[in-house]
Amino acid sequence: MKTEYQEMILILDFGSQYTQLIARRVRELGVFSEIKPFNFSIRKIRELSPRGIILSGGPSSVYNKNAPLVSKELFQLNIPILGICYGLQVIAHLLKGKVERAEHREYGYAQLIIDKAYGLLDNMKSPTTVWMSHGDKLTQSPPDFMTLAHTQNAPYAVICHQTKPVFGIQFHPEVLHTVEGITLLRNFLYKICETRGDWTPHAFVESSVQKIRKQVGDRKVICGLSGGVDSTVAAALVYKAIGDQLTCIFVDNGLLRFGEADEVKTVFRNYFTMNFVFVDAAQQFLSRLQGVTNPEQKRKIIGEVFIRVFEQAAKQNDDAEFLVQGTLYPDVIESVSIKGPSAVIKTHHNVGGLPEKMHLKIIEPLRDLFKDEARQIGRELNVPDEIISRHPFPGPGLAVRILGEITEKRLEILRKADKIYIEELKKSNWYHKIWQAFAVYLPVKSVGVMGDERTYDSVIALRAVTSEDAMTADWAKLPHDILSTVSNRIINEVSGVNRVVYDISSKPPSTIEWE
Ligand code: XMP
Repeated sequence: MKTEYQEMILILDFGSQYTQLIARRVRELGVFSEIKPFNFSIRKIRELSPRGIILSGGPSSVYNKNAPLVSKELFQLNIPILGICYGLQVIAHLLKGKVERAEHREYGYAQLIIDKAYGLLDNMKSPTTVWMSHGDKLTQSPPDFMTLAHTQNAPYAVICHQTKPVFGIQFHPEVLHTVEGITLLRNFLYKICETRGDWTPHAFVESSVQKIRKQVGDRKVICGLSGGVDSTVAAALVYKAIGDQLTCIFVDNGLLRFGEADEVKTVFRNYFTMNFVFVDAAQQFLSRLQGVTNPEQKRKIIGEVFIRVFEQAAKQNDDAEFLVQGTLYPDVIESVSIKGPSAVIKTHHNVGGLPEKMHLKIIEPLRDLFKDEARQIGRELNVPDEIISRHPFPGPGLAVRILGEITEKRLEILRKADKIYIEELKKSNWYHKIWQAFAVYLPVKSVGVMGDERTYDSVIALRAVTSEDAMTADWAKLPHDILSTVSNRIINEVSGVNRVVYDISSKPPSTIEWE
């Protein structure tokens, strides 16, 4: 089908920790990119007809027995190729250069000296700082290749075929430590692959609308709304395509934050004209969760009850054949890891089994997008900023932020504490600087003193993280005075809490949520 955006860059994944980052950078430069496993077939590559191919880095050594490699046919396709780090070594190995183990693993900054400042290296200063992370290195360039740049340790830091558009670079242009990495990638896209840069939110919306209309025809569609960015943007996109054929269902599971159910209802009634059904199922969820302390069991129960409640609501919207999900690219991406095409696709934990049991066909209009791109699409669709800029909130809600048993009392304490925390972050302009922040209820008691009285009360933990996509995260270095205000307010205003602690663990090895 003809889409509004046509150009794409294919990224073949050799298992680098930076593969996703390459995809992001290419898209940030205005060109659509997709990641596929290194052994994606030549036939499929021809079908996709990418404007350029990037071979990612990876942890392997090309001379090892089971090293991941590509078919030499790749070089006959006459599609521009850029090999990054291990990708460079793959090119060199297949085209008869020499790759050997280096005496020292090179990890960190290096100074790149440019010998031929055109094409891929156009407009780059020399020397320029680049980021290296490799064990093996090229000791002999393949025949018919020339060297465009070198570093003290890497005599062939940038190589290029003399007549074909095949390039290899030893460093990582996708990480920001490489000062002119973006310039290099831009050169590859716009000078070597001759892309125009047609990946824009507007083009994405137009092409998605066409696709959804074609897929749905005149049938009915439902969407489980959470009030978060992903499901709201997905709903807005489908609504633009098919209008009243869509009904959105918002379930209050009793595990929402302070005032959240009313807030979502108000936003939806004020900003959207789409069919909207509100279901108050709090008691159903909470009664099933009574006495349950095991995190996995909590998630399972919530998933099951959700299916039942949703099914019931769906019945009233008879004959719906499709279900909209706000699945994003990082949810899909694990299926294209180095394990190859046969790797099992991760079950998206937003809906846990819902589609299979309901025999609904799935529409996932955001499955090619990263979170920040989904936000851009939301802006393009005039989704209000109060939804677009909200922090992510997990499907199981506060159930995974109350360790141990969930009770009304604990929910009340957590809601109040969380509200204060978020209020203070917004007031101090920190809310938008971080990926996610929330309070956690700990089922332990500690001794305190208030007035002249001894207290023996609960502990609230504060979590705040910075992240690009939630796959890794750093604990946020919030200023002490903000933490101090939040702590004072929680202890003074929330009865039942006498201690507040700050979580200083990153992901990995911790996760963002506590359960
Ligand atoms: P973790 O805790 O795994 O979380 O580091 C990564 C991101 O995913 C969110 N999260 C969920 N989102 N359903 C969701 O829709 C879930 O079951 C779920 N569990 C975690 C979490 O808030 C963080 O942004």
